[in-house]
Amino acid sequence: MAEALERKVAIVTGASRGLGRAMSLALARAGADIVAAARTTEPGGPLPGTIGETEAQVTALGRRALAVQCDVTKEEQVQALVQEALDAFGRIDVLVNNAGVAFVVPVAEMPIKRWDLVLAVNLRGTVLCSQAVLPSMTERGSGAIINISSMLARRSVPGWAAYSASKAAIERFTVSLAQEVSGSGIAVNCLLPAATVDTEGLSYLTRASETDKADWATTGPMERAVAYLAGLGAEAFTGQVVMDQELLGWRDLHVSQGS
Ligand SMILES: NC(=O)c1ccc[n+]([C@@H]2O[C@H](COP(=O)([O-])OP(=O)(O)OC[C@H]3O[C@@H](n4cnc5c(N)ncnc54)[C@H](OP(=O)(O)O)[C@@H]3O)[C@@H](O)[C@H]2O)c1
Repeated sequence: MAEALERKVAIVTGASRGLGRAMSLALARAGADIVAAARTTEPGGPLPGTIGETEAQVTALGRRALAVQCDVTKEEQVQALVQEALDAFGRIDVLVNNAGVAFVVPVAEMPIKRWDLVLAVNLRGTVLCSQAVLPSMTERGSGAIINISSMLARRSVPGWAAYSASKAAIERFTVSLAQEVSGSGIAVNCLLPAATVDTEGLSYLTRASETDKADWATTGPMERAVAYLAGLGAEAFTGQVVMDQELLGWRDLHVSQGS
């Protein structure tokens, strides 16, 4: 049986580790070729994971893969990322705007440079990557842009103001862009984990112990949700901000109803 994303091409930002790598592999298992974008090309930094490793893992699944070094805050690098993807694969069907950072510090003590960086990676990066794929998706009359939010877009925790503000803005940006491109065949949605997900970046940031992480989720629900969302056409689902578990519930309902 053909996979849902067979012959589709997906760009995933922040694909060197964590959710970005997990979602890249999930999209590949669903049939997609993957463009894995992030900054890290060499091991040895404070966090594990490189885009080359993600590329190799996708290739091992039998899909085509391309690792592209890209800082999503830099417009010229984002434009080059999209051009490299088009040159290599001829099309872009899916963009997952996953690259994200956080610094945990009260506003009163936060150097404004850190505020700017969180907003630049999370929000500006999402906007730049979306802008860059729109021309080719519009020309083809189809595409899926999937932004990544957080429960902290709706719930405030001291120290996380910049991150919360960036994610709340991403949710509004999602609905605004979906409205602007409605009728073009491009779906724009926002996906968020219902629970804290155990990733390298979050473990490092929070210095969480194994006990702290007892109720953290695996990447599994986000993997399944992104693969499902990437395959839904704009006529079926756009302009939505949806939790992974909620989306999987809808999917299971549709499957059980045979629709
Ligand atoms: N883990 C959770 O519980 C959770 C919950 C809600 C939402 N999220 C969201 O899910 C996404 C992934 O989170 P995660 O936990 O997997 O984080 P992570 O392990 O820290 O991974 C973050 C990724 O973003 C990339 N990145 C950071 N700055 C970048 C830049 N300037 N340009 C390009 N890539 C950049 C990193 O790669 P390089 O360092 O190689 O560039 C890395 O691949 C984020 O948007 C996060 O806000 C996570």
